[in-house]
Amino acid sequence: MDFSPLIIGAMRLGKWGVNFNTNEYESFINGCLDLGLDTFDHADIYGDYTTEAEFGAVLKKSPSLRKRIKLITKCGIKMVSPNRPEHKVKSYDLSADHIIKSVEHSLVELSTDHIDLLLLHRPDYLMNPEEIAGGFTKLKSEGKALGFGVSNFSTSQFDLLHKHYPLTTNQIEVSLLQRNAFDDGTLDQCLGLGLKPMAWSPLGGGALFKTSEDEMINRIQKVGNELCDGYNCGLDQLLYAWALAHPAGIIPVLGTSNLERIGLAKAALEIKISREDWYRLWTAATGNEVP
Ligand SMILES: NC(=O)c1ccc[n+]([C@@H]2O[C@H](COP(=O)([O-])OP(=O)(O)OC[C@H]3O[C@@H](n4cnc5c(N)ncnc54)[C@H](OP(=O)(O)O)[C@@H]3O)[C@@H](O)[C@H]2O)c1
Repeated sequence: MDFSPLIIGAMRLGKWGVNFNTNEYESFINGCLDLGLDTFDHADIYGDYTTEAEFGAVLKKSPSLRKRIKLITKCGIKMVSPNRPEHKVKSYDLSADHIIKSVEHSLVELSTDHIDLLLLHRPDYLMNPEEIAGGFTKLKSEGKALGFGVSNFSTSQFDLLHKHYPLTTNQIEVSLLQRNAFDDGTLDQCLGLGLKPMAWSPLGGGALFKTSEDEMINRIQKVGNELCDGYNCGLDQLLYAWALAHPAGIIPVLGTSNLERIGLAKAALEIKISREDWYRLWTAATGNEVP
């Protein structure tokens, strides 16, 4: 399955963000398609279990849109929410039963007969890879999910499940504010397996655009803004270009609900930052010259 080189995150489109109504969701989806970006990243929990259905209302209204877009969704986090009164404590559940029921629920919410890519949202300390593989096999054979991956998995957790079922990606947090994946083997593993990682919160959740007392943020903003002049781009574009420079082929999952900013992100695909500038930003983030 080919996903667009930038994935549109749905986390902030509903109650956890801009609270789009159905018409606004529809214009937003069409705007993304006009930019050539067709892949949308959901999770059952977004908007306290409401965002999938709000997005799905557009597909119900305009069913022909479904063929033009690709849908990712996630399962496995059980949030305490008035919309899930049976959840008494926040927990993870990657039992086959929960995975299957969650996908079947997402299909209804999203008004679709299949999910293009299902991600296990977070590792469950009690997960059994053989059981998960059985759940994936069932969903695949029924055509309910076409591909499978994980999110926030360590390299050993990824290996364990990948031995039982071929995973296609690990969606992880990557930005100048969250650099663990460069050091903990996660990006190496994707590169070695030829799987493109997806990067969530590529702009640090927006923190890099706010005035802050955090010294790391101030250093990144200072160096970043200086470099922007040379690349004739905005700080958001530079931050995307920084992640895109990694040879693993990171696919940023965008969090903005602003189509103009999505257009700028698309233009950032063309920005090639030099190795030295990449390290200038790394050094600004860590506060230290590399050893
Ligand atoms: N797998 C996981 O565990 C996981 C966890 C978190 C998120 N995700 C996925 O990743 C996606 C992206 O995460 P994120 O929303 O944290 O990403 P992000 O892109 O790092 O942050 C998005 C925030 O930054 C703001 N922003 C973007 N460009 C800006 C600019 N030029 N100036 C000022 N503010 C700007 C956005 O506001 P505007 O809307 O106003 O532009 C929005 O509030 C989510 O939608 C979700 O699909 C996955």
